Amino acid sequence: MSLLEVRNLHAGYGDAEVLFGIDLTVERGEVVAIVGSNGAGKTTLLRTLSGIVTPTAGQVLFINRDVTGLQPHLLVEEGIVMVPEGRRLFPRLSVRRNLEIAAYSKRARPKLAESLRDVHELFPILKERSDQLAGTLSGGQQQMVALARGL
Ligand SMILES: Nc1ncnc2c1ncn2[C@@H]1O[C@H](COP(=O)(O)OP(=O)(O)O)[C@@H](O)[C@H]1O
Ligand SMILES: [Mg+2]
Repeated sequence: MSLLEVRNLHAGYGDAEVLFGIDLTVERGEVVAIVGSNGAGKTTLLRTLSGIVTPTAGQVLFINRDVTGLQPHLLVEEGIVMVPEGRRLFPRLSVRRNLEIAAYSKRARPKLAESLRDVHELFPILKERSDQLAGTLSGGQQQMVALARGL
């Protein structure tokens, strides 16, 4: 069973169609890169998979569940998160608060302590910098917070 299966996905903005029938499979443990020129539709594809843009046709299956067209907050509960371009942290909140907010969802809330331990193991600097305002971290460290938030 594939982790993510995208079939004939169409999406766009109003009358402007951007995605014309995307087919894509991601297996568990696999990393897939989408490569394309500026304006090709990479961000639109990720926005559609995270529910920010609603598909006009096609199907998205996540661990064999049909999640096509679900709203972003419901996709997060399914386990699909986007780590956005440009990070979008809360710069005036601490690293710890940024990560706690990430665990707001029903799915993540009961596992906050365990998840914090896991991401601190992955990015030890984030544990050291727990009380630092996220906006005062280096760019790379902020990227770690963005990834940790997703996890
Ligand atoms: N909010 C929007 N409204 C209308 N058109 C958009 C919007 N966002 C992106 N587009 C258009 O959709 C196309 C694909 O953009 P995008 O997915 O951002 O490309 P990429 O990430 O591959 O550079 C571009 O032609 C872009 O101008
Ligand atoms: Mg883009």
